[in-house]
Amino acid sequence: MAKLAHAQWSSRMTFVLAAAGSAVGLGNIWKFPYMVGESGGAAFVFVYLLCIALIGLPILVSEWLLGRRGQKNPASTMSELARTAKKPRAWAIVGISGIVGAFLILSFYSVIGGWSLYYTVNSVSGAFSGQDADGIGALFNGMLSNPGLLLLGHSVFMLLVIGIVARGVTKGLEGAVRILMPVLALLLVVLIGYGMTTGHFGEALTYMFNPDWSKLTAETVLAALGHAFFTLSLGMGIMMAYGSYLGKEIDLLQTARTVIIMDTVIALGAGLAIFPIVFANSLDVASGPGLIFVTLPLAFGNMGGGTILGLMFFLLLTFAALTSAISLLEPVVEFIEERTPLSRVMATVVAGVGAWLLGIAALLSFNVWSEPLLFELGVFDLLDTLTSKIMLPLTGLGAILFTAWCLERSSVEDELGLSATGKSVWNIIARYIAPAGVIAVFVTGLI
Ligand code: PHE
Repeated sequence: MAKLAHAQWSSRMTFVLAAAGSAVGLGNIWKFPYMVGESGGAAFVFVYLLCIALIGLPILVSEWLLGRRGQKNPASTMSELARTAKKPRAWAIVGISGIVGAFLILSFYSVIGGWSLYYTVNSVSGAFSGQDADGIGALFNGMLSNPGLLLLGHSVFMLLVIGIVARGVTKGLEGAVRILMPVLALLLVVLIGYGMTTGHFGEALTYMFNPDWSKLTAETVLAALGHAFFTLSLGMGIMMAYGSYLGKEIDLLQTARTVIIMDTVIALGAGLAIFPIVFANSLDVASGPGLIFVTLPLAFGNMGGGTILGLMFFLLLTFAALTSAISLLEPVVEFIEERTPLSRVMATVVAGVGAWLLGIAALLSFNVWSEPLLFELGVFDLLDTLTSKIMLPLTGLGAILFTAWCLERSSVEDELGLSATGKSVWNIIARYIAPAGVIAVFVTGLI
């Protein structure tokens, strides 16, 4: 994308699809449901939705806005805008930490992309057919305890990502997202329909939407905040980079609302598809990162047409993961390409291989290297915690603080095309509520 420095999205639709392609991924279907399960259900969902609306939305808008004004890669955009606003160049750190965060996330994201690939193969080979919860659980644990298999999945996934980014064919993918995203949504509807036949749908609804506030702790609130960033691809310079290709005529607030609604609907849909199966089979809601892999195959193995639906589902999941992974590699590649003499292809290979190597450490933490490394966490959890709970919120905080306090207020208001009331609401949220929210959650979560 660096070569397109002054290029623009061909239409608002393309932009929405690219942003949604980045946002909708494993975070929605794999991560959201298991986080709900680990954090006790509806109270977490409620805080998550609040974080999306009051913090995620303004930060998404400000990342796009900064990108559109800066017209460069995130690090250069930030230092350029800081210079124009006569603020310290150190603001560039917001862009740099985003790039590092993207690299770290890609490493473990690809490992889960590999799981999704393996499950795609499993659905074709009929591995789910007629299995009970124990059989499906054994399949998942067998995969986790097999480093060679995990490495194979991780490697194939990363090769796909490197291949796509090296060719710079992101545009072609956007066309595909246009078709695949609705199909994914439709499949979730089918799975929710299956959930209704289990007789445990009501229980799932209560679990997800009827809060038991006693389950809420500072830790779960921080997890909800971190996930709001993760799922919207915030705090990583990605949305900033996308914003740099954005035309002046695009309504940022309206576009953000569209992307956020798509993202949230898919995440909630995944929860509604999964929890009825969890309750119907007395599975453990808090079983962690394996949750979708031990629940959905049970449904596919025991419903009519399950083989083909399973195949479609895991293919689509892999595809959603790919469009997100591409957006994770892109800023790293762009940065290396601009700062070193390496060509685009070489920069892609270097960044991809680096993330692949780190991913190997992450996948070994599921088996041969399971002892905790630091703070009682193994490599996989450490990478996830460091990025989701620390780097993304802090980087996003930097973006919103800069937009609200360093840029000229009137020009930001103009750029957002706000009415008089809109201006006051935006200023209160962007200057106080969103930053205070991030800081409060961050500090209480860490102590
Ligand atoms: N938002 C993506 C998801 O929900 C993950 C992602 C995070 C992608 C950060 C890009 C950047 O799966």
